[in-house]
Amino acid sequence: MRITDTADLWWKNAVVYCLDVETYLDWDGDGCGDFAGLAQRIDHLADLGVTCLWLMPFYPTAERDDGYDITDFYGVDPRLGTHGDLVEVIRTAKDRGMRVIVDLVVNHTSAKHPWFRSARSSKDSPYRDWYVWRADPPPDTSAEVVFPDQEDSIWQLEEKTGEWYLHKFYKEQPDLNVANPAVRDEIAKVMGFWLQLGIDGFRVDAVPFLLETSGIPEEETERFPDPHEYLRALRSLVDRRAGDGVLLGEVNLPHDQQQQFFGGTDGDELTMQFDFIAMQAMYLSLARCDVAPLVDALTSRPATNPDNQWGMFVRNHDELTLDKLSEDERAEVFAAFGPDPDMQVYDRGLTRRLPPMLAGDPRRVRMVYSLMFSLPGTPVLFYGEEIGMGENLAAEGRLAVRTPMQWTSGRNGGFSTAAPSKLPGPVVEGGFSPEFVNVADQRRDPDSLLSFMKLLVRRYRESPELGWGTFEVLGQPHPQVLAHLSTWDDGTLVALHNLGAEPRTVPLVLPDCGSTHRLEDLLEPGSTPLADDGSVELTLDGYGYRWLRVVAEDSRRLV
Ligand code: NOJ
Repeated sequence: MRITDTADLWWKNAVVYCLDVETYLDWDGDGCGDFAGLAQRIDHLADLGVTCLWLMPFYPTAERDDGYDITDFYGVDPRLGTHGDLVEVIRTAKDRGMRVIVDLVVNHTSAKHPWFRSARSSKDSPYRDWYVWRADPPPDTSAEVVFPDQEDSIWQLEEKTGEWYLHKFYKEQPDLNVANPAVRDEIAKVMGFWLQLGIDGFRVDAVPFLLETSGIPEEETERFPDPHEYLRALRSLVDRRAGDGVLLGEVNLPHDQQQQFFGGTDGDELTMQFDFIAMQAMYLSLARCDVAPLVDALTSRPATNPDNQWGMFVRNHDELTLDKLSEDERAEVFAAFGPDPDMQVYDRGLTRRLPPMLAGDPRRVRMVYSLMFSLPGTPVLFYGEEIGMGENLAAEGRLAVRTPMQWTSGRNGGFSTAAPSKLPGPVVEGGFSPEFVNVADQRRDPDSLLSFMKLLVRRYRESPELGWGTFEVLGQPHPQVLAHLSTWDDGTLVALHNLGAEPRTVPLVLPDCGSTHRLEDLLEPGSTPLADDGSVELTLDGYGYRWLRVVAEDSRRLV
């Protein structure tokens, strides 16, 4: 392993930033965010240290599922701009050293997509078998719906033809039939189109649903015996067309099942997957002030190819799902971080952002981000996390965390000059409103969360052992404290995080170290010598966090 490898397998220690153009910055004053606005803010992202921008769906949409219901896979939503505007954003991002990936949402289309309009109109439509139909009444599938507040079946009767179509999400999102080779070819063509336009890969929506064939008639699935073969084909398409392009998959499954979506240890399917299991365990650990659940999750990861990577996150654009916790564990997290029913959704998740969940405690918020960046994987930020935005619970369900980005303390948080009624969602109110939480103020404040996030990003990028290295938990007596060691090449980093409110003194023994080594703090000034046997005592404030580089006497690394 050499430092130059980080340029090839760039996703191993990237800093990914997810945003929705619609809620980022409105430049033409119509109330809706647009590509022209995003172009104005590429320098904010570059300044933060983002290396990969993930654009949520920007395609023409029927707006049933906030853009995840697409009416044209090759188009750009005219409210956001044109293909030309998108290309300008991609070019500007690349000039600032950022790659761009886009959402690929091909498990389903919108019911208003011309393919489905045709398919539903007649059994003889050329697009009929692009979707999944059944002629006999479906059984009770209420346990299988993804959005239980809105749906009670994954089958919807189409009156005109008297058959039911499959939809795992909203009924306005009919599932495509991936067993049909014409559908598979078209999906590949869609990917080829965006790759040709210069993007660097895809965040792949709902991958297990895309590959799932139950419900598809048997004669069709016989033609498609191994869905993972298809995922391998898509990966190989990306490799051929884009060389170092990635597939970052949404696979919210237990770790052992995720292995297959990486392509086992061959690693020839998804390049990256979000670690939903570690994320959920992290919240349980935070609620309990006990690192055990998080450690269990991280150490239960399956073996993967070293070129693959886990995406680490504190928050994404959906509900903060806790579906992989037991009922009792979920109740603990609900009680700690979202006790009111209006903070919960689908009986499995929270609609809050992190800072309000932690009552705005700046030490604790920083500790959580420090922890996330220090864990083995690639950090993925959701817009607004860099300034500690809160949610607006007046917005329905998942929309609570999709409020306009807060740029200034001015009208609409500087997001738009339009009337508030024209915005895609309400601006955050109360203690986390733009008056108190905005980019402009935090840019000028060296003690702000934004300044801290920039430091974390810089240190993460300077410490490839975090993205690439081994993860070893160091023994010490405090259940509230995670002390871990990451080693890669000849670099070693020790990270300490205190999930509890009480200060702690942490005794450690560092393997293969002695008095010729010292520990250099990376997040604050400080240097600590090690004893002959590699032992040391380190202090941590309540909710404290420290990153320490192990420096040998003869090391030439810059610290
Ligand atoms: C997962 C996306 O993250 C979510 O926002 C969407 O509703 C579903 N997939 C359906 O596309």
